[in-house]
Amino acid sequence: RQPFWIAPSILSADFARLGQDVSAVLAAGADVVHFDVMDNHYVPNLTFGPMVCQALRQYGIQAPVDVHLMVENVDSLVPAFAEAGASMISFHPEASQHIDRTLQLIRQHGCQAGLVFNPATPLSYLDYVLDKVDMVLLMSVNPGFGGQSFIPSTLKKLEQVRALIDQSGLAIRLEVDGGVKVDNIAEIAAAGADTFVAGSAIFGQPDYQAVIAQMRAELAK
Ligand code: DX5
Ligand code: ZN
Repeated sequence: RQPFWIAPSILSADFARLGQDVSAVLAAGADVVHFDVMDNHYVPNLTFGPMVCQALRQYGIQAPVDVHLMVENVDSLVPAFAEAGASMISFHPEASQHIDRTLQLIRQHGCQAGLVFNPATPLSYLDYVLDKVDMVLLMSVNPGFGGQSFIPSTLKKLEQVRALIDQSGLAIRLEVDGGVKVDNIAEIAAAGADTFVAGSAIFGQPDYQAVIAQMRAELAK
């Protein structure tokens, strides 16, 4: 199991002062920046692209940037995000024409590669590419919006992916995204996750340090 990472989703940050808000959440103890890219096509919402990632790097953000692509035409964005300073790039397999090629493309550009599964997307997409994946991201809400409730069937799916990863012996992160909060993070960790995206649960609180400390205390239980 990889060390636990808390990954605030900047979808819930203050876009008018994004650099300061991301700095604040990292200073408060977050491990990585989760960067939700939406195209109003694959998901019914529109966010930000590589220029915003590059601007955060230029502002001085040094933590890993975990880019979650909720877009179609995945391949055309991979080089741009790599150049903009992305550390990990994850995509939804249904949105890529050639999943194996896209995974290779991400690694060729020096980033870690992840596959993302919606709540009803089968895990069989992993069957032939587990060795080309650095991260598996399970959506615990339907993608597109922050602030939704955790879908409980994700717990069983997490257990299934945890078993696959452990059997493989590969160093693959297991990330969960959607509805993660202080009061369910321990249960989610027990099901096998090591990387926890949280947007509204962190940015919706006045004291980021307090909520991240509460999450870590739950993870230590
Ligand atoms: C949903 C995004 C999530 C979302 C999580 O499409 O991928 O990262 O922002 O937000 P919360 O933690 O508020 O459910
Ligand atoms: Zn996300």
